[in-house]
Amino acid sequence: AGADPTAYFTEVIDADQKVEPRDWMPEAYRRTLIRQIAQHAHSEIIGMQPEGNWITRAPSLKRKAILLAKVQDEAGHGLYLYAAAETLGVSRDDLVDLLLTGRQKYSSIFNYPTLSWADMGTIGWLVDGAAIVNQVPLCRCSYGPYARAMIRICKEESFHQRQGYEILYTLAHGTPAQREMAQDSVNRWWYPSLAMFGPPDQDSTHSAQSMAWKIKRFTNDELRQRFVDMCVGQAEALGLTLPDPALRWNDERGAYDFTQPDYEELLRVIKGEGPCNRQRMEHRRQAHQEGAWVRAAAAAYAAKQANKKEK
Ligand code: ACO
Repeated sequence: AGADPTAYFTEVIDADQKVEPRDWMPEAYRRTLIRQIAQHAHSEIIGMQPEGNWITRAPSLKRKAILLAKVQDEAGHGLYLYAAAETLGVSRDDLVDLLLTGRQKYSSIFNYPTLSWADMGTIGWLVDGAAIVNQVPLCRCSYGPYARAMIRICKEESFHQRQGYEILYTLAHGTPAQREMAQDSVNRWWYPSLAMFGPPDQDSTHSAQSMAWKIKRFTNDELRQRFVDMCVGQAEALGLTLPDPALRWNDERGAYDFTQPDYEELLRVIKGEGPCNRQRMEHRRQAHQEGAWVRAAAAAYAAKQANKKEK
């Protein structure tokens, strides 16, 4: 490394090595990472709600135990990601405050309601499936702590995806009513899942710069296409239909043609006007308030332990 930190940063990025917390980095690189990692963490935390809604109504003890474990994993991912963001010099309290006051975003997908048990299957299959397609490349992100956090998170997401697929498979091969419930659920979640990848490339504010910095390895549209191509065969194996009459193989492109999600709807949901935005935020604020005593008790305990050591 030379004396010029800018040149060193560029060298590290060009050589596909990792930028670490103590390294010099451009302020905009730091800000972009804080934004993306915090949004990601908030998504995991808010993402507990749609499935939390079904824990008490799971159809068997086994299903309940699995769902409970899955929602707990999401809490873990959130905390893990907040810790990764903290290595960039922000505090978790500040990030939580930015979420609760609506100044930082979380994924659009968690503003849709979970209307049936089949939604637990579809969220695992499509929503966690989309998350995996988006997150596996993030394991190679140029920022070390984020890349390393993503490795473990992706392993757990794979388990989530498979458990959702298995729920849907069971329903799709059950009674006609169960089959219908599964199909209805896939019909409702398909386009919102496609929208998770973000706006199309020409409207993506951050993609070009994030690609140059190797935070993002693929564009929103590239990952969306990969997801569609992956889902077609899986839907066939499930015996369910993806609700897109225009879906067909394009030999020239070597990929499926498909109908794009409604990006106007995505913008509305991001702005807070989705079906459940208000409910999700209210619930989160209330849970945070009700947890105040736990934070106070933990802080008091830590102070007491520190005091003991001093004596
Ligand atoms: N929901 C909410 N906001 C979104 C979404 C979405 N699905 N897609 C894009 N946006 C926001 C971006 O955050 C950005 O807003 P900002 O400038 O105020 O931060 C704006 O729309 C423009 O989008 P892009 O320029 O394309 O943003 P970016 O380069 O950050 O790409 C993406 C968006 C792909 C979501 C990226 O941030 C990412 O890969 N994040 C990590 C993964 C993640 O957060 N997953 C959460 C859901 S998965 C789960 O939790 C199970």
